[in-house]
Amino acid sequence: MGNVYVTDHPLIQHKLSYIRDVKTGTKDFRDLVEEVSMLMAYEITRDLPLADKPIQTPLCEMTAKQIAGKKLGIIPILRAGLGMVDGVLRLIPAAKVGHVGLYRDPETLEPVEYYCKLPTDVEERELIVIDPMLATGGSAAAAIQFLKDRGAQNIKLMCLIAAPEGIAKVQEHHDDVDIYIAGVDEKLNEKGYIVPGLGDAGDRLFGTK
Ligand code: URA
Repeated sequence: MGNVYVTDHPLIQHKLSYIRDVKTGTKDFRDLVEEVSMLMAYEITRDLPLADKPIQTPLCEMTAKQIAGKKLGIIPILRAGLGMVDGVLRLIPAAKVGHVGLYRDPETLEPVEYYCKLPTDVEERELIVIDPMLATGGSAAAAIQFLKDRGAQNIKLMCLIAAPEGIAKVQEHHDDVDIYIAGVDEKLNEKGYIVPGLGDAGDRLFGTK
């Protein structure tokens, strides 16, 4: 079973309270989502392997540490996942960015992929799927499946807020995927919104309704 990591970092929790607040306008919301995404990228990269690297300081030679192992890829789920990309890239600038877009088929209610553009070497990368809201878990589970169908072997999921239903869905379908979140909320309402949540993340990021 994949692990679920809920960060209790005070800066993340503090900023998340402003993200949730209905009084926070579009610009501040966008900036805060970017900042929290950057801080969460710090948490999610905690276990990256290091390798020794001989370097020369102004004083002497030394063996320093540098990140080794697989290269990273960031995969925002369209559209709200876009709001997290720049924050993650601020910490991991060399990561490649792929995009996955899904819609729900009105007949079958199944997620259907309408856009997918990934780094060519997806099977060799450690991928971080990002989406601010893990609600029903349908989109995240489907996006992860699309990545696996294209050869991805190493996937983590990073969200700001999750409903218990969403966590359960991802764990049910992808027990190899660790989930990183800043808050687990109470429930989903009848329209599929997370309660208390933050509303529609895409609308709040892009100023739409
Ligand atoms: N997507 C959102 O943007 N908000 C929710 O509460 C649920 C899904």
